[in-house]
Amino acid sequence: MENRSLGGGRVSVPVVGLGTWQRLEAAAAAGRHRELIDTAIAAGIRLVDTSPMYGAAERLLAEALEGTRDQVVVADKVWTPSPEEGVAQLARAADWYGGRVDLMQIHNLVAWPEHLPMLEAARDQGLVGLIGATHYSASAFPELAELMATGRIDTVQVPYNPLQREVEHTILPLADELGLGVLLMRPLGEGRLVRRQPSPAELAPLRPFGVTSWVQALLKWGLSDPRVHVSLAATAHPDRLRENAAAGSPPWFGPEERAFVLDLATAN
Ligand SMILES: NC(=O)c1ccc[n+]([C@@H]2O[C@H](COP(=O)([O-])OP(=O)(O)OC[C@H]3O[C@@H](n4cnc5c(N)ncnc54)[C@H](OP(=O)(O)O)[C@@H]3O)[C@@H](O)[C@H]2O)c1
Repeated sequence: MENRSLGGGRVSVPVVGLGTWQRLEAAAAAGRHRELIDTAIAAGIRLVDTSPMYGAAERLLAEALEGTRDQVVVADKVWTPSPEEGVAQLARAADWYGGRVDLMQIHNLVAWPEHLPMLEAARDQGLVGLIGATHYSASAFPELAELMATGRIDTVQVPYNPLQREVEHTILPLADELGLGVLLMRPLGEGRLVRRQPSPAELAPLRPFGVTSWVQALLKWGLSDPRVHVSLAATAHPDRLRENAAAGSPPWFGPEERAFVLDLATAN
């Protein structure tokens, strides 16, 4: 899988990561969260995104990383309006992940002016590697752009898939200009985009790009934008991870193939 750099080259990471919203708990309910993370690592996935918002996901991830923590970039979040609780969330995360969180993001921009100085101090102390911010809604992109322009964060995490392309207007150009890492949430539209699968015959023009499934076409669509660094597809199924990881290798789509995938995605 191709690696791309975050934080001005401080972290190099394979382009397909793993999201944990609802799916890590689902894997755990089936007794498979350790297997999910082990299989992800075996498939070459090295960044896992989580949050205090995702129920037990942070704790389950910590459990599943016993013995493999140093192979994975943990992208966690602070998600609270309370500065005191923000400090407590970071302390819990550092405790879970061996004394350090590789990327700490401000979830949905909640109380970012309060959390940012705390995260900067934590970075100076070595508790945090990179600092980022996330938002799922285009209505918050002006505020996200304001934070990006401060030069105080290393990454942004935003939705990007053929049905959600608002980041093309401001966020991706600004991230590119400022040299910020871009993590994609919802690359499969929270699963909506995989419900209708084009036939193998329809996907045949993408075969020279290593694409053998619709999920791979969607993941490669996002990753073929050179301003993007990591795509965070989430699954509860270990057997789907190799398929997802395989979308992270070149050759990348050009404008023609991206337009082709867009047409297929919006056909119905
Ligand atoms: N504000 C924020 O910070 C924010 C908001 C949203 C998301 N995120 C992050 O971004 C991650 C990804 O977004 P998301 O979880 O909303 O949606 P997503 O990754 O676009 O879609 C997940 C869905 O796709 C399905 N899927 C994954 N691989 C598949 C495959 N190979 N074949 C068939 N189905 C497949 C999963 O089902 P199965 O489990 O059944 O495979 C799941 O229902 C989240 O987990 C989270 O870490 C952050």
